[in-house]
Amino acid sequence: MSAIDLHARPSAGFEAKLAETQSLLRRAATEFAPVTQASSLGAEDVVITHLINSLSLDIPVFVLDTGMLHDETLALLERTRANSRTAVDVYRPSRESVVHFVRREGKDAMYRSIELRKACCEMRKVEPLERALAGKRAWITGLRREQSSARADVPLVDTRDKASTQRIKLNPLADWTWGDVWHYIKLHGVDYNPLHDKFYPSIGCVPCTRAISLGEDFRAGRWWWEDEAAKECGLHVAKSSNITAPAEPIEAHANERPGLRQPVEHRRTA
Ligand code: ADX
Ligand code: SF4
Repeated sequence: MSAIDLHARPSAGFEAKLAETQSLLRRAATEFAPVTQASSLGAEDVVITHLINSLSLDIPVFVLDTGMLHDETLALLERTRANSRTAVDVYRPSRESVVHFVRREGKDAMYRSIELRKACCEMRKVEPLERALAGKRAWITGLRREQSSARADVPLVDTRDKASTQRIKLNPLADWTWGDVWHYIKLHGVDYNPLHDKFYPSIGCVPCTRAISLGEDFRAGRWWWEDEAAKECGLHVAKSSNITAPAEPIEAHANERPGLRQPVEHRRTA
């Protein structure tokens, strides 16, 4: 069963949410320019890129290629670059930093401590993100409130970092449900990461992402060996302390064994 079969069910307010999203993206291209979309090539992000292209907006897209992405994600990146009207740029970590880090701490450092995991994220994601955002007044992300309790208060227009970064963050899908995302993908035949059909709702780097099981939360497959509170990589620092909404439970296939897997099953072998 594909992710479309499993999830494509719009919420009652879908049409109104879509209109609000389109309006925000139009405003982004004018009022908030220069602006760029951050895409992990996950389901939310391919929807946003599709909207940018279909509205012919002057908003370039960037992908942070950490050097640890799945082959499926890299293949989708190539297809997106070939088929997108708007530019799709790729930012990578400094080769020198990666070589030093891996030589000093080993390839599996992320499993040894939260500090080492965050150092890896800092080097492979946060530093390249700063380069991708240089000179931009705003950036667009696929954050949704439903994704986790830490994201329950994500606003459509987030100005909370403006004082420190001079930049605002736009979250045009903030109030979309997972069903809305897949409904849009189905309606428009949007190309998506086939890992979503294998019970990966949230996709990051190979060593830090696994499939989820029946009843597990949306982000249960990200950094699954860490406490819930630690699970952010630095791209989106948790800003709210009044965490109220529960994370969305996702239906996964019944044959998947519940419970945590060992990290070693998800490491790259090459
Ligand atoms: S993360 O902080 O846990 O890695 P998540 O995977 O949920 O984030 O993605 C949230 C949003 O962050 C995405 O919709 C996208 O806007 C941005 N993002 C995450 N990973 C990347 C990436 N590799 N390249 C560009 N943007 C990314
Ligand atoms: Fe490193 Fe994992 Fe962070 Fe990717 S998600 S940058 S592999 S620690």
